[in-house]
Amino acid sequence: MASQQTVAALQALLHTSATQMQKTHLRDLLDGPRGDFIFSLNDLSVDATRQPVTADIMGNLCRLADYMGLKAFQHQMVAGDKLNVSEDRPVLHCTLRAPSRLLTEEWKKLSSYAEAVRANRQINYIVNLGIGGSDLGGAMVVKALAQEYDGPEVHFAGNIDPAALGDVLTRCAPEQTLIIITSKSFTTAETLMNASLARDWLERAGVNADKCFAAVTAAPEKAIKYGINEEFIFGFSNGIGGRYSVWSAVGLPVMIAIGADKFSAFLAGAYELDQHALEASFEKNLPVIMGLLRFWHRRYLGRPSYAIIPYSERLSRLPAWAQQLEMESNGKRVTRYNDALEDPAAPLIWGEAGTNAQHSFFQFLHQGMDEIPLDILVPLRPVDNADNPLWKAHHMTLVANAVAQAESLAFGTDNPEQPHKHFPGNRPSLVIAWDSMTPHALGRLLALYEHVTIVSGFLFGVNSFDQWGVELGKTRAIALEDALKTGGPFSGFSPAAIQLIKRARDIIG
Ligand code: F6P
Repeated sequence: MASQQTVAALQALLHTSATQMQKTHLRDLLDGPRGDFIFSLNDLSVDATRQPVTADIMGNLCRLADYMGLKAFQHQMVAGDKLNVSEDRPVLHCTLRAPSRLLTEEWKKLSSYAEAVRANRQINYIVNLGIGGSDLGGAMVVKALAQEYDGPEVHFAGNIDPAALGDVLTRCAPEQTLIIITSKSFTTAETLMNASLARDWLERAGVNADKCFAAVTAAPEKAIKYGINEEFIFGFSNGIGGRYSVWSAVGLPVMIAIGADKFSAFLAGAYELDQHALEASFEKNLPVIMGLLRFWHRRYLGRPSYAIIPYSERLSRLPAWAQQLEMESNGKRVTRYNDALEDPAAPLIWGEAGTNAQHSFFQFLHQGMDEIPLDILVPLRPVDNADNPLWKAHHMTLVANAVAQAESLAFGTDNPEQPHKHFPGNRPSLVIAWDSMTPHALGRLLALYEHVTIVSGFLFGVNSFDQWGVELGKTRAIALEDALKTGGPFSGFSPAAIQLIKRARDIIG
């Protein structure tokens, strides 16, 4: 790790470069050779040619990462050091992708159960009850890998709004349904209340509910106490963060949908990326380059927002998964050492599938006053019917739109006579492409984004592995309901809050 003076000098140099970059249009950068800004790992390519960086800036960003000790941090993580300092826990999600995992008792129990469920003709519906990291990853992966799907129907319900689970249950037959309670803590109110609603649904149908539940949790003792048969409890370590957990037993619904072999291919893709992240030099390291660019946009160019646009209908839930990954990891105000941050960390992550996004908020991206950096993701093959001329034509149009949007955002077009038709351009993008939407490719892509969050979190100086910010709202909701039940006092609540909650109680009855 370099001296603080050296780091400070490099940071000052980068701020000077940022000032210069803000006077430079991407058109001018694209006028010169940009071949060095296309990075790849086998068929996964990251095209950073439309980014506001020069070779010098990229080199200085890599040097900054080096001087700050990023390489040591990456190796500390995989060595199991307790990098989640506020919870005194290690960060272990990468261990779940290592080939050695397939030799563990945990894997054998999980995979044999998944295959047994898939072979059981009596089980045709799976309902996963979970929220946040116990929902978003599984739901997104099941949708993304629909082409690989040959198991029972898998549904996800997380929201405490009873319509979330109610709408799912109307599509299931009680006597053919397995309910998986997925909760790392096994204390999340939404999930446990939804489990009660599911139990009620089963019992009203005359089904022995006790035989219809499995649990995925880092607190197996709580699941046993809840009444789940230990044979159907699938554990994982407290060192696996919820938003980093789809690789663990949290992925059970995925494994039931696509089978253990394809799930292991999903893991292998992530493992390929893990090895690259640890071994590749920073200058050719996809997650380091992307993490540095996210840091560059946020910290040096002052851009608080970052869009992720998958040009893939089956990846339409990826932005929601990426939101929790980045904003729960790096949406912090103190450093790893609990000192106040001087500058903001995580950007606001948002997005929608393309081409739909082009018909909703691309107006803002092209002609709004803000220059929003974005990732455009595009698989180059259609997910199915690869020989069907219409599918091929549609997918070619999809790819053409993805590329054309990156170009239009960067170059723009001048129209001084008609300002409302003027496109300023200079909007940066990364174009991330790969051949086919296979389990391996998806695992690699998700691992890429996990490492980007961890790299940028390290550079922001935050603890990317805790989430204390979710607690206040939870405790206040409990206090509000308790006050309602006991008639008060509603201490600490505003009159408007008290009025509205009482109005709801009167309407609901
Ligand atoms: O939002 C807070 C959080 O703890 C997330 O980090 C987590 O993924 C989600 O709630 C669900 O938690 P659990 O898996 O413990 O039910």
